[in-house]
Amino acid sequence: MKKVLIIGGGLAGCFVATRLQDTCAVTIVTKGDRRESNSMLAQGGIAASLDPGDSPQSHEEDTMKAGVYHNDEAAVKQLVTLGPKLIKALIAAGMTFDRHPDGPLSFGLEGAHSHHRILHANGDQTGEALTSFVQQQLHHVIWQTQVEALQLVVQNGACQGVLVRHLATGKQEVLVADAVVLATGGLGNLFDFTTNDRTVTGDGIALAAREGVKLTDMAFVQFHPTLLSIDHHCYGLITEAIRGAGAILVDENDTKIMAGVPCADLAPRDVVARHLTAWQAQGHQLFLDISKVANFEQHFPGVTANLDKHHVPFRQTSRIPIQPGAHFMMGGVAADLNAGTSLPRLWAVGEVACNRVHGANRLASNSLLDCLVSGQKAADSIQQMPEQALSPMTVTTPPARPIHLPALAALQKRAWADLGVERTRPQLQAFLRWLQQFNYAQLAAANLSADELTRANLCLCSQLIAQAALAEPKSLGAHYMKEDAHATD
Ligand code: SIN
Repeated sequence: MKKVLIIGGGLAGCFVATRLQDTCAVTIVTKGDRRESNSMLAQGGIAASLDPGDSPQSHEEDTMKAGVYHNDEAAVKQLVTLGPKLIKALIAAGMTFDRHPDGPLSFGLEGAHSHHRILHANGDQTGEALTSFVQQQLHHVIWQTQVEALQLVVQNGACQGVLVRHLATGKQEVLVADAVVLATGGLGNLFDFTTNDRTVTGDGIALAAREGVKLTDMAFVQFHPTLLSIDHHCYGLITEAIRGAGAILVDENDTKIMAGVPCADLAPRDVVARHLTAWQAQGHQLFLDISKVANFEQHFPGVTANLDKHHVPFRQTSRIPIQPGAHFMMGGVAADLNAGTSLPRLWAVGEVACNRVHGANRLASNSLLDCLVSGQKAADSIQQMPEQALSPMTVTTPPARPIHLPALAALQKRAWADLGVERTRPQLQAFLRWLQQFNYAQLAAANLSADELTRANLCLCSQLIAQAALAEPKSLGAHYMKEDAHATD
């Protein structure tokens, strides 16, 4: 039986596992527990053209337009055609999405969609409902939780397994596999304002980069316009579906921030995040005005619970204090339409992968859909590959050396300032000069503590973002250079 090792327990990794569990020996390794992933935190929903008045062509056009046509067209076509089929199969298997009282599926609206096509579950808890449903389908899979991946084991030009460490004991071992699947998510925790789960720290990108696996589009980090913001701290996502239901962005004077911009509050995320950032830089406070949203608490129970947890008086004010924050990595490990990478026997699915389906700016609620589609394609491709004779392996760890790494807070602060919503060439260059004092590139993962490895991984990711941003010829989508705005003034 083929051995398949999946690194990451979010929707993409678990979906691959459901497809392979009857024919392969599947192990999921995750450094947190089963519920710790960005997938579990996804709120708004999953986009699919299942409404009779909608079409895959319309979804394709919206995806390409939001992605500023930097998308791979074949990847987008695959997403919008295979995605609905997979969702229908999940519904047939018992997955419950919200419906109107008389039966039909209820479709929400989000930014840059020309049609109500966002399926949602338990109001705004779609990611949790869908990921839990898929996890419940796993019967023949071994979970190894609290286990972190240290290094891809590459021999004879192919990935043969992964060196891992059990966090509770510190024990290191090589897990050999016929196929390794990276499903580690993005790198949101590089920034101090983020929607991401605490475990999402660029690990898959760093693992791949250290072995010379091809990466692509690393300049493109998506900043979500609305994170709950209190006293300069962020406390999670305020779903865009709330703007789809009629909320608007205002400042402390009730000025409508997005007035006059095409599509206003439902413009693509990069556009809205930039507007908010510019408004904030002028000294304004940012709010989401929910006074026009009918049955807010009923439709958005997860957000309501979070607002109550943080004592936000939204029932009195109809306002939620917000600010933009890091949300999604469009770039990552270069993947083909079957989720194959440049390293044989290594696949990449979900956010860690980049087949350019999202272009320069992901369309809202396309990420859960991509988890299903890339997961299915990876599983199909792994089914077709030949089994190999696996033998136990060891990895020689180089001698330890002194460690010079930045404190996480210092790295996050600088990344926010220099790699964030607005960038400039001098800032990117200064960021790279600042990184040079640290020796993350010379350190062996096996010699680092979990905390040190996180910082080393994030340093490496930040270097790759800064270099990619400097290499981009012009602003595009989520990659925005302030100089370009002045050039067109
Ligand atoms: C949201 O609910 O606003 C986020 C959905 C997404 O990132 O696609």
